[in-house]
Amino acid sequence: MTSKRQVDAGRPPSDPPGVRVRVPAKVNLALCVGRLGADGYHPLDTVFQAVSLFDEVVAHPSDAPGVTLTMRGEGSEALPCDESNLAVRAAELLRRRFGIESGVDVLVRKQIPIAGGMAGGSADAAAALLACSMLWDLDVQPDELHELAAELGSDVPFALVGQVARGSGRGTTLVPMLTRGTYHWVLALADRGLSTPAVFRRFDDLVDAGELTPTAEVPPGLLNALARGDAAGVGANLVNDLERPAITLRPELGEVLEAGRGLGALGAVLSGSGPTCAFLAAGEEAAMDLAAALASRPGVRAVRRVRAPVPGARSVG
Ligand code: C5P
Repeated sequence: MTSKRQVDAGRPPSDPPGVRVRVPAKVNLALCVGRLGADGYHPLDTVFQAVSLFDEVVAHPSDAPGVTLTMRGEGSEALPCDESNLAVRAAELLRRRFGIESGVDVLVRKQIPIAGGMAGGSADAAAALLACSMLWDLDVQPDELHELAAELGSDVPFALVGQVARGSGRGTTLVPMLTRGTYHWVLALADRGLSTPAVFRRFDDLVDAGELTPTAEVPPGLLNALARGDAAGVGANLVNDLERPAITLRPELGEVLEAGRGLGALGAVLSGSGPTCAFLAAGEEAAMDLAAALASRPGVRAVRRVRAPVPGARSVG
């Protein structure tokens, strides 16, 4: 295993082309969390929706042994490039499973915020799995890829499939959902990330103290609204049981969510374990107005306008 940050400038034009994969971020339209299980995970009932904020992962054959990772873009200087990085673990997992001896250079170009609750690290792992399996021409079936993805993390399988899916168990058991409509989101990115395990621990504390009653299951109103393509109905039924715990850890998130609601968003919800806040807008124009108004709020580092749903990890030539 080697690691480097600086590279891929100067790759000779004679090099064989790499496999390039684009992979989306996600928001959870509902994130209903059960009590901590003996396996250290919380049983979930969740609806994932893939949004048009993408990372790109390129896998190149390498003469160096093992997996070499290079990170570029959004917040990447803060990320390790060693085996603690989920993209490296994904490539290593595939090498071990299929007995691959050749080395690979993995380049990740990030746009998805780091530790933002949008499954950026999971997206990179899913894309690395797909890119390496194509590079090595592996005969790997979708089910097997899904199983490898689930070994890497709870959100990795969804990044492979994208669109809209209901997740249960740790979040890795997925049922694709046929939904109508295009949804326009404004994402408010925060200055600092939040640790997912820390937010789940705060959830446990609040539940144990009787201060939080988790939502038992995905609201039927959300499922109906998605089936109809009713954005206002979706906005009114967004729910995230990790929102309160995240707000107690980072109170300004509550203010950002309230501000978006006051600015006419159809709905506002913390994305995953946060700290990214997601606001559903009535259309493209409304999203532009909302983004402009939110951009200057304290606690908002940047805003992104995205649409959804979009496909999961795909090779882009
Ligand atoms: O699966 P992943 O490694 O992404 O999960 C990160 C952490 O989030 C876990 O170690 C666990 O603390 C928490 N988690 C959980 N229940 C889930 C998913 C994640 O408690 N269903």
